Amino acid sequence: MLRIKKNQPNLDELIEYSLIVFGYVIIDDFFSESDDLFKSLKSKHLIDLSLNNVAPDHNYLGGVCKTFIDLLGKKETKKESKNSNRKLNNEIELKELVRLPLFYETAKRFFHSDNLKIDVFQTLDTPNSKHIAQEPHFDRIPTLKFMLYINDISSDNGAFQLSVSTHHWVKRTFPLPRPSYDNPEYFKKTRELPKPIIDNLKPIEGKAGTLIIFHTDTIHNQGVVNNGECRIIRSHFRNKEDKSNRRQNIQKLKNLFRFLSK
Ligand SMILES: [Fe+2]
Repeated sequence: MLRIKKNQPNLDELIEYSLIVFGYVIIDDFFSESDDLFKSLKSKHLIDLSLNNVAPDHNYLGGVCKTFIDLLGKKETKKESKNSNRKLNNEIELKELVRLPLFYETAKRFFHSDNLKIDVFQTLDTPNSKHIAQEPHFDRIPTLKFMLYINDISSDNGAFQLSVSTHHWVKRTFPLPRPSYDNPEYFKKTRELPKPIIDNLKPIEGKAGTLIIFHTDTIHNQGVVNNGECRIIRSHFRNKEDKSNRRQNIQKLKNLFRFLSK
């Protein structure tokens, strides 16, 4: 696997090249355990994502997934509930994370746009985790993802897996524009993959603070946890100007309307 260091010369160029050619890049030392922002993200991840203080999530069985949709969008400024202070503090750190030049500037260069939508998913997986991200797939909505390991992660505790350069196959087999996000036939096809792609899935092991950047056309899956736990902060960047994203948003509104008018 292609692994680089944060202080490597021509880092931006190397990241851009790797994303185009391999579909991913790994920065092993993105954060050290003593970095203030990382310490803060980690301590809040440990508090907020615990099996003891959440109701079971049927879409994320056996684990916890905490979501911040459109993190830098205007609607996130509203305050609610008695937990608002803690929520707000956590958001401040997540906003600081996604605004880091290595995140934001990389995404801007990748999409040739600074009109970006950023969703953040914080996840905890355990040996009881069972959800659709564990099956090899590509994402139905093309996204640039930044996955930050919060604890040391090996194959034994759920290392993320990826099949190198497979975004080229996906782009050729499923040219843009693609079917709607909620088309069941499309969903099925995203999971029916050639054997060589599956055989080439490799776990990405890494210490806490490792950052994986990848484009979601590259075939991937969340690893299964045999022992211990797996904690990741996933920042998803999408181009708001992308026609397929606009169409997905309209589709989501239509679905909501259909649901509400039942
Ligand atoms: Fe995915």
